[in-house]
Amino acid sequence: MTERDHASSPLHIDTQLVHGSRHHGATASVGTPTVPPIYASTTYLHSSTEALDQAFNGTTPEGEAAFVYARQGNLSANAFEEALNRVEGGIGTISFSSGMAAIHAALMAAGLAPGAKIVASQDLYGASISLLQKVFIPIGVQVILRDLCTPDAADFIREEEPDVIFIETISNPLTRIIDLDAISAAAREVEAITLVDSTFTTPYLLRPIEHGIDLVIHSTTKYISGHGDSTGGAVTSAKRVLLDQLRNYANLLGAMLSPFDAHLMTRGLRTLALRMERHCSNALQVAHFLAQHPAVTRVYYPGLPQHPQHALANKLLGDGRYGGLLSFDLKEQSRQAVYCFMDSLQLCLPATTLGDVFSLVTYPPVSSHRTLTEQERRNLGISEGCIRLSVGIENIEDIINDLDQALRQ
Ligand SMILES: Cc1ncc(COP(=O)(O)O)c(C=O)c1O
Repeated sequence: MTERDHASSPLHIDTQLVHGSRHHGATASVGTPTVPPIYASTTYLHSSTEALDQAFNGTTPEGEAAFVYARQGNLSANAFEEALNRVEGGIGTISFSSGMAAIHAALMAAGLAPGAKIVASQDLYGASISLLQKVFIPIGVQVILRDLCTPDAADFIREEEPDVIFIETISNPLTRIIDLDAISAAAREVEAITLVDSTFTTPYLLRPIEHGIDLVIHSTTKYISGHGDSTGGAVTSAKRVLLDQLRNYANLLGAMLSPFDAHLMTRGLRTLALRMERHCSNALQVAHFLAQHPAVTRVYYPGLPQHPQHALANKLLGDGRYGGLLSFDLKEQSRQAVYCFMDSLQLCLPATTLGDVFSLVTYPPVSSHRTLTEQERRNLGISEGCIRLSVGIENIEDIINDLDQALRQ
């Protein structure tokens, strides 16, 4: 990473990721651990009842973070939150037991109450759309789903004047890019709160707060944990008032990150830069390989010059890194052909998630977009022969050889 100017730290982001949690916790006369321990305790003792009373407000008399009960925050989660917050450049970060729990709390903190209006990207992660439709519409929230990757998206926001705007940095599965600067500028004009699910890009590729976004959400289950062995979520706030609301809802909804998962997330952050470098360089090579393959008609990857928003991707992501996720259309547009391809893979795993060290292949019509009809998927541009690939960190030749032999089946 070349820029040093974010989050007011003199250190580069890859160094911050490695050392972000190192100074967390007390020094000990017997030796200070370089890695914060796992604090499994559900409750915390304080020096006096007065200090306990103060701790319930979240701080010690000296103004440091204080803990009383694990659901309201625990030291292990706090180490992870501070490390992530530093690289996102926020006022504060709160962690959750899943990405969906983080999205739920963020939407509530943003003010999605009866009578509120939200404009959300039509190609959000499927469960996020279901959350809006099944939880928020029934309580009287007006939900408007729309393509927000188009040049007139900012004008649409000015016309609709929503209270909340919810987008993703890169859409699933067609890897469309949203112009964060245009959206956040329009949002400021109409005083809407902006939420961005930044799971696909991670703070290593993009830091939405630098683009004027209010709340940044991650399913940390994906790239941040990175090894497919831990589930979690996080929300970073750019504003104190939103952070306070988020803390309230996190406490009430009770979906906090466990100390054990927090430990794995903190460990994931330390190698995030290295893994993202490899995910991105592997994905770019796979995209070029697939783009010239006779069994493939189209590749969706922002790093390809033919991607409709390649220039925007260069502006937002920069440095030749476009993420680890791509999709492609098989020439033979049938479920049978897709199943044959997926069943023929020997290295890439046909499993539903993304951002792991392993290369992972999913078929949107049976996974992320299974609740939609074929016509609804077509309206979104998702064909019956569309396959999503989360490119892992294996040797690039092995990934390409595996895809090639499966495409030949
Ligand atoms: C972009 C995005 N956001 C949120 C989620 C939900 O995360 P979790 O499964 O950790 O609840 C996912 C899951 O796939 C996702 O892809």
